Amino acid sequence: MKLFIDTANVADIREVASWGVLSGVTTNPSLVAKEGRDFMQVLREIIEIVDGPISAEVVSLQADDMVEEAKQYYELHKNIVIKLPMTAEGLKACTRLSAKGVRCNMTLIFSPNQALLCARAGAAFVSPFVGRLDDISTDGIQLIRDIAEIFDLHGIDTEIIAASIRTPGQVVESAKAGAHIATIPPKVFHQMLKHPLTDSGIERFLKDWEAARGKV
Ligand code: E4P
Repeated sequence: MKLFIDTANVADIREVASWGVLSGVTTNPSLVAKEGRDFMQVLREIIEIVDGPISAEVVSLQADDMVEEAKQYYELHKNIVIKLPMTAEGLKACTRLSAKGVRCNMTLIFSPNQALLCARAGAAFVSPFVGRLDDISTDGIQLIRDIAEIFDLHGIDTEIIAASIRTPGQVVESAKAGAHIATIPPKVFHQMLKHPLTDSGIERFLKDWEAARGKV
């Protein structure tokens, strides 16, 4: 499973990219609004940091407007992926953009049927929201499992991005359920890195090393 980062914060992207683990970036209007910066400038900076799919989401609701809005993003760089909402209008826009060779990431996926429709509209990626389903006491990981099974059974090459990830455990479960990608907030990346036994292990190794050096 590949790892994307789910943020529009350039410093956070730079930090996790420096670990050498990042394959892409996803953003959404809420994440962009949080940064309070010009989105085109943010995208230019991300393009310089990560060489992989970078999702930029449209805010228009009609297919014609979505396609028009998408242009400024995909013309910026070949790595830009257009993120579209899972609606009939989003499907129409996905069909038109995909036919032109523009990759689309269909977002706000909460059912296997929604994912199947997106795949048939030519989506390169679908983003089922694990955390938001878990928030309402529904099994988000089961959705990943169902979509993975359907795509596998029918030879569909649309990639599944496990989105709305809130915990390191959801990353593990998404990988086991067959997601091709997990898009992970910076905070969860840092949580994935840590283990108390790693920290105490380093402390112990250094103590032993220093003690032995004192003897020679
Ligand atoms: C998907 O790509 C979205 O950007 C994101 O994962 C949504 O996460 P949230 O439910 O924590 O807002």
